[in-house]
Amino acid sequence: MADVGSPEIHSGLEGVYITESSICKVDGQLGRLYYRGYSIDLLAKYSSYEEITYLLLYGKLPTGTELAEITKQLADARDLHPQIVELISTQVSQKADPMDILRTTTSALSAYDPETADMSKEANMRKAIRIISKMSSIVATIGRMNAGGTYVIPDKTLGHVANFMYMLNDKLPDQRSLDIMRDMFIVHAEHSSNASTFGTMVAGSTLADIYSAVTAGIAVLKGPLHGGADEAALKMMDAIGNPENTEKYIESALAGKQKIMGFGHRVYKAYDPRAKIIKEYLITLQPDATEQVRNYTAIALAAEKLMVDKLGQSHGIWPNVDFFAGPVYTAAGIPVLLFTPIFAASRSAGWCAHMIEYWQNNRIFRPLEKYIGPIDLEYIPIEQRK
Ligand code: SDX
Repeated sequence: MADVGSPEIHSGLEGVYITESSICKVDGQLGRLYYRGYSIDLLAKYSSYEEITYLLLYGKLPTGTELAEITKQLADARDLHPQIVELISTQVSQKADPMDILRTTTSALSAYDPETADMSKEANMRKAIRIISKMSSIVATIGRMNAGGTYVIPDKTLGHVANFMYMLNDKLPDQRSLDIMRDMFIVHAEHSSNASTFGTMVAGSTLADIYSAVTAGIAVLKGPLHGGADEAALKMMDAIGNPENTEKYIESALAGKQKIMGFGHRVYKAYDPRAKIIKEYLITLQPDATEQVRNYTAIALAAEKLMVDKLGQSHGIWPNVDFFAGPVYTAAGIPVLLFTPIFAASRSAGWCAHMIEYWQNNRIFRPLEKYIGPIDLEYIPIEQRK
């Protein structure tokens, strides 16, 4: 440890390792990402969200029987208690932020889980499945109610992502929207010790239960420097309006020292492999895309070229997972207000996997800060203070 008189401060914990983990490798120099050793490119191509959940929680790809089992467990846990539905409805009617609704409602799930206080690994694995399953139902219900609809009872015969779309729209998704959302759920499922996963682990390291830990993760994900960047990036594209305005907008934002949302990353100093997957997807969608999606795409590609030419190789600032997400979600008919909640619903698998892994060798997180204020001040009675 550094000398207490002149400690080395790692601002934003940059470069600090907090634990060992076998869940995820982010290779920031080469722009590669692996879940449990499998490259994200392969997983995005071949896997399902149920399989990713199994992989993250159990550390290996499932056999056919294991996949059928976890698929059934996720499907069986989907339905929301009527009081949870009521809680969502009340908050939607107050026009609360969807991330706040998701945070409050996920926290409230603990009241309806008889195993909330059971800290055994087996109980935590069961609770993880319930959390992962129900968070998607909550997000779909927030979207449904925001559009003026009512709770759609989940369909246990559908896959996780298809059921999410069904609960959101009260109708089965078309194949293209389903493929888009399957990909988005997979690429957002896990990303090592990012801020929200760390937030989850800090809460859980006190041996608070898994609902408390995941609720902390949702709170941390909300901000525009983290999960909220997908929404902020699309709003920027709206503000640009027309592809021809892109250069002027970006130059002026950079001159004003503004951050361009959806660019830059603490770990990736190369192209984020998830952004590459989403960008390629967006391009394949173009022939059938709506006018709006084509316009977003043109703006996004113009902004990407400008930023990469200006700050890519020279400053290591590349598009991240959030940059192309908005246009792709739009193509699947997902409203902006659900972008970050969907990120959270999909990341719940990563949060739970990290929490359960960390608990196997738990130690409370308790870093230090260098105090720079005065000490031993004289206490002046209130009536004598000026
Ligand atoms: C996610 O870590 C994860 O794993 C997160 C994530 C996940 O899967 O969980 O990948 C998801 O959160 C992606 C990031 C989403 N956020 C944004 O898109 C917001 C915009 N980007 C940033 O604000 C920023 O790049 C961060 C927050 C992502 C990273 O912040 P850092 O590592 O603290 O970097 P910094 O803010 O200190 O910037 C370093 C330099 C600065 O320039 P100098 O002062 O050194 O000259 O890079 C510049 C910054 O000004 N910079 C940018 C920029 N990002 C960094 N300049 C313009 N636009 C940007 N987006």
